[in-house]
Amino acid sequence: MNITKQAVINAYIPEQLEPGTVAECFAPSNIALCKYWGKRDVELNLPINASLSISLGELGSRTKIAESTTGEDQVSLNGELLAPDSRFARKVINFIDLFRRDLRQPVSVSTVNNIPTAAGLASSASGFAALTLAINDFYGLGLTSEVLSAFARMGSGSASRSIYQGFVEWHKGNREDGMDSCAEQLELEWPGFRIGLLKVATGEKKVDSRAGMQRTVESAPLYQSWPQQAAQDLATIKRALSDRDFELLGQTAEQNALSMHATMIASWPPLLYWQPESVAAMQQVWELRALGIPVYLTMDAGPNLKLLFLNEHETDVRDAFPGLMEFDIVSPFD
Ligand code: DP6
Repeated sequence: MNITKQAVINAYIPEQLEPGTVAECFAPSNIALCKYWGKRDVELNLPINASLSISLGELGSRTKIAESTTGEDQVSLNGELLAPDSRFARKVINFIDLFRRDLRQPVSVSTVNNIPTAAGLASSASGFAALTLAINDFYGLGLTSEVLSAFARMGSGSASRSIYQGFVEWHKGNREDGMDSCAEQLELEWPGFRIGLLKVATGEKKVDSRAGMQRTVESAPLYQSWPQQAAQDLATIKRALSDRDFELLGQTAEQNALSMHATMIASWPPLLYWQPESVAAMQQVWELRALGIPVYLTMDAGPNLKLLFLNEHETDVRDAFPGLMEFDIVSPFD
């Protein structure tokens, strides 16, 4: 028997909702160092493997929910009112519908992403996390962070991690209702940790993560080794973090990302998110390492690179990648 999202959510929210008049919440974007790739339950968005990320501090999404003054639900994105049947508006309203029981109170939802568009980062993680936090405040649900993380996960898997700042682990969980598949912040700060958002190509990706991971799970024989590797990488990354062993961390994160991409490439039809510019930038990272500069790369379901390095190498990295602007280097603990 498959449990629905609605049934899971109903068990956690009050019968009688007491909506406020306005709620506004922020959630950071995040970059996975050990990637989530593959679902064991598509309805509840439960992952095949656990993952670990670093949140991007002030870069993320701010979402405001207020009573609608027009008598209709309204959704705006970055200041622009969207058509009710647009993809983004439908996703937002369908998600809110899961929480508002039979209240007939139209709402106005506005989301602003401050992630530099030049960085080419997806915003679904911070977007669903900020929306979940705002729903909790607006309807007075009083949910714990664990529950909020599990609910954000139902919107988008990686959103479970965007409920928190810093290094965050998303447990894969075992329960049938998925409520133990939520994220947890690791108690650990690394002030010198830097992430460079290197945009090398533009354009909408043709296959989104959701469809991409489904295709990989169904068609890539190589995927069989992924869950075990991800579990090992996660353990190594946690050890590297607690020992502040940057090279072990970078090496494991880079190999984890490239292994995930190997499973994508081995899918049918093949799934290659890289552009020629991505490969050129990867080679440049490897050349820098050959010169003794500890910089590592990670990549998600798109052509752009995220560089991992420490503050003492910020100038070297900036010199090597003139395309990397001031605002593209994130200090997550500042
Ligand atoms: C490659 O969280 O966007 O960025 O759960 O289907 O919404 P859905 O997928 P999403 O996938 C993120 C995949 C990734 C790796 C990661 O962030 O862990």
